[in-house]
Amino acid sequence: MNKQRLDKIISTQFNISRKDARRDIKIGKVTVDGKTVKDFGFQADPEAALIEYMGQALCYKEHLYLVMNKPKGVISASLDKSRETVVDLVPEPLRRQGLFPVGRLDRDTTGLLIITDDGDFAHSLLSPKKEIFKTYEAELDGKVTEEMCKIFADGITLADGTLCRKAELKPMGECKAEIKICEGRYHQIKRMFGVVNLGVNELKRVAVGGFFLPENLKSGECRELTNSEINAIFTDC
Ligand code: URA
Repeated sequence: MNKQRLDKIISTQFNISRKDARRDIKIGKVTVDGKTVKDFGFQADPEAALIEYMGQALCYKEHLYLVMNKPKGVISASLDKSRETVVDLVPEPLRRQGLFPVGRLDRDTTGLLIITDDGDFAHSLLSPKKEIFKTYEAELDGKVTEEMCKIFADGITLADGTLCRKAELKPMGECKAEIKICEGRYHQIKRMFGVVNLGVNELKRVAVGGFFLPENLKSGECRELTNSEINAIFTDC
């Protein structure tokens, strides 16, 4: 791993501002390999050196990958002046600067949301070219027909003329359906069902790629993803 400035390491890994990190380093709250370092521009390799902040050893992670069971009523954003965001729900030990939700779920949509500070990871997950399918369960105000499934599979054209990529639609009993899409246009699923005159009463994302919303993750909770869960995202479901 490349060396980084000590103030950057402390601020990103302990979730404090750069200004506070500099102040704390200057007053001797940081040690590197057992020695107090007061120069906040000091270069250290956070994976090789033992860095301690106020006696707490750093367990370096370049990026953080979280899974949240998004509840209704919160917005998929990092920051908002007046409304609660999904990042506001991330508990303190998992907080760090730069976290953002990967893609947007509508305010009234629930379920699986990935939150990270890794822009490249988010890009690969969202790029339609990578064809990572996102699976949703929808409660509708009418029945899904065979013809609708075919229209979705062929690529439906939205009311504004946008042509969607192929989508998999599967009826799941009376007025319920599973739908898989690999792109994330604004209100996409609601607009797709709108074309076939069905309203969406409830929408929940249950999987991203081959990774399913963990059953024991309660609404509003989040936790770190394991490496195998991250790999599952990039495999077909
Ligand atoms: N499609 C929608 O219409 N809403 C969502 O939240 C996600 C996909």
